[in-house]
Amino acid sequence: MKVGTDSFILSPSVLVEVAPGAELTIGNNVSLRRFTTISVRERVTIGDDALIAEMVTIRDHDDAIVPGVLYRTSGFVSAAVEIRRNVRIGNKVTITAGATIGENAIVAANAVVTRDLPANSISAGVPAKPIRSVGREVAT
Ligand SMILES: CC(C)(COP(=O)(O)OP(=O)(O)OC[C@H]1O[C@@H](n2cnc3c(N)ncnc32)[C@H](O)[C@@H]1OP(=O)(O)O)[C@@H](O)C(=O)NCCC(=O)NCCS
Repeated sequence: MKVGTDSFILSPSVLVEVAPGAELTIGNNVSLRRFTTISVRERVTIGDDALIAEMVTIRDHDDAIVPGVLYRTSGFVSAAVEIRRNVRIGNKVTITAGATIGENAIVAANAVVTRDLPANSISAGVPAKPIRSVGREVAT
């Protein structure tokens, strides 16, 4: 696990699990608020200036579905999650394996992110889909 400078993790209520050999990278000036969970079996990357609200779940794996095998012994399927620079994630958002959230994107409260979301978009719903553009680039 690597954390950049001036990032704010509201410990101890933020739960972070990183499996052996997996990578969690949190950039600079990132804010992670209460009761957020990050669970990593492969790779999760959170870009600089990301604001992640309360009760958000970020997970880069799912329980595997293997016909004829008990769920509790079927293992996991993982795919890296990437949250790019200057992203805002609303309360109670769930981000599932393999999703990339583009730069400057906003994800509305309670959304479930199952696919990539474009840069400069505002997305909402289950599954999360873009509802409009933020219409601006942010200076570096
Ligand atoms: C998405 C959000 C940023 C508002 O964006 P906006 O573009 O100003 O959205 P509007 O209020 O104009 O709504 C646009 C449409 O999206 C819908 N919408 C807004 N928020 C939504 C949400 N969370 N889930 C589903 N739909 C939502 C509105 O109902 C509206 O639908 P309509 O066009 O059919 O009427 C805001 O609703 C939100 O979810 N903010 C997150 C709050 C939060 O968790 N903050 C954390 C602080 S620590």
